[in-house]
Amino acid sequence: MYKINANYQKLPGSYLFSTIAKKVAAFQEANPEKEIIRLGIGDVTKPLSKSVIDALHKSVDEMADAATFRGYAPDLGYDFLRNAICENDYKKRGCDISPDEIFVSDGAKSDSGNIQELFAEDNKIAVCDPVYPVYVDSNVMSGRCGTYDMNSEKWSDIIYMPTTSENGFVPEFPKETPDIIYLCFPNNPTGTTITKSQLQEWVDYANKNGCVIIYDAAYEAYISEDDVAHSIYECEGARTCAIEIRSFSKNAGFTGVRLGFTVVPKDLKCGDVSLRDMWARRHGTKFNGAPYIIQRAGEAIYSEAGQREVREMVGYYMNNAKTIRSGLEEAGYEVYGGVNAPYIWLKTPNNMTSWEFFDYLLENANVVGTPGSGFGPSGEHYFRLTAFGTLENSEKALERIKKL
Ligand SMILES: Cc1ncc(COP(=O)(O)O)c(C=O)c1O
Repeated sequence: MYKINANYQKLPGSYLFSTIAKKVAAFQEANPEKEIIRLGIGDVTKPLSKSVIDALHKSVDEMADAATFRGYAPDLGYDFLRNAICENDYKKRGCDISPDEIFVSDGAKSDSGNIQELFAEDNKIAVCDPVYPVYVDSNVMSGRCGTYDMNSEKWSDIIYMPTTSENGFVPEFPKETPDIIYLCFPNNPTGTTITKSQLQEWVDYANKNGCVIIYDAAYEAYISEDDVAHSIYECEGARTCAIEIRSFSKNAGFTGVRLGFTVVPKDLKCGDVSLRDMWARRHGTKFNGAPYIIQRAGEAIYSEAGQREVREMVGYYMNNAKTIRSGLEEAGYEVYGGVNAPYIWLKTPNNMTSWEFFDYLLENANVVGTPGSGFGPSGEHYFRLTAFGTLENSEKALERIKKL
């Protein structure tokens, strides 16, 4: 008789977005005349840019011709894309990364969920709280997190590093030394980030204590301030302690197209075992590559026109972020994020819980956001609005909120 992976049974239900959807549907049914503005889910709304569409059309045509048809992609990704990534995302920023340390994938979600396979089951992980849920849940599935306590909403074997307004959303070094540290900057959900020198401290900490940092830089394109690192490899010593995960979703609108990559430097070694070689082996065994046409589309964002289009797209969303942030400030809210990330993180007024504020905003302003408590216990009394809507809707939502 077969047995299941019982770790899956330990996972509490993921009710966040389904509860939001149910509440919104019920409200709409009861109030069919109300126009609801959705600033909840972190999906993009702008279409793919011209350079990307042109590259897609061209590569689709290549697939129709026996002379240019491509089958399985190389395990690590096509050279044209890995060279473009290496040159533009790393060499231009002074980072010492080579193309054979870059692994092209179908996105940052899969990579951030799969990367834990490289590590032993008894490794202890540390995460920021609140957090992008994939890091925790993927480790739970592998039996690495102990038991879940419904009251504290915490796993017994995870080290939580609260990031709240009290510590300026900068995680502090935990009392107990972790083995694997997940960091995501600029951050989802808080929309805040840390400076390059603060990140350097984490790199030094990891090297000193024999930890590995899994660095999720999915929102790198939204950085607007000079003292923020676009890559962890801008920090000295990161090659011996850090893995970086990137995505084409938020900079180029590839959420439905699917493309990302992970960097595992050759200097990252556990004893004399290379993590880069382990990831190459895993990739070769379990992944058959992102599609050729999608990798060509990804390459297109690195052309001069492509880079301009990325800046325009990011600029559009960041203008929404500014509109939301300044509107909330005018309305008297305590607001964070929205400067280096497309998320605005606000403190709920009058000590409302995150879900109380969700209902209040839906019923009185007909605006949908995401309750902060859905991202971890330290997210309670916070609320996330995203800048991924249209400018018109962002403005309209803020007009309504100001009138409350
Ligand atoms: C922090 C973070 N990492 C990764 C992802 C997923 O990126 P992708 O679309 O490349 O899977 C998201 C998506 O919202 C995210 O917020």
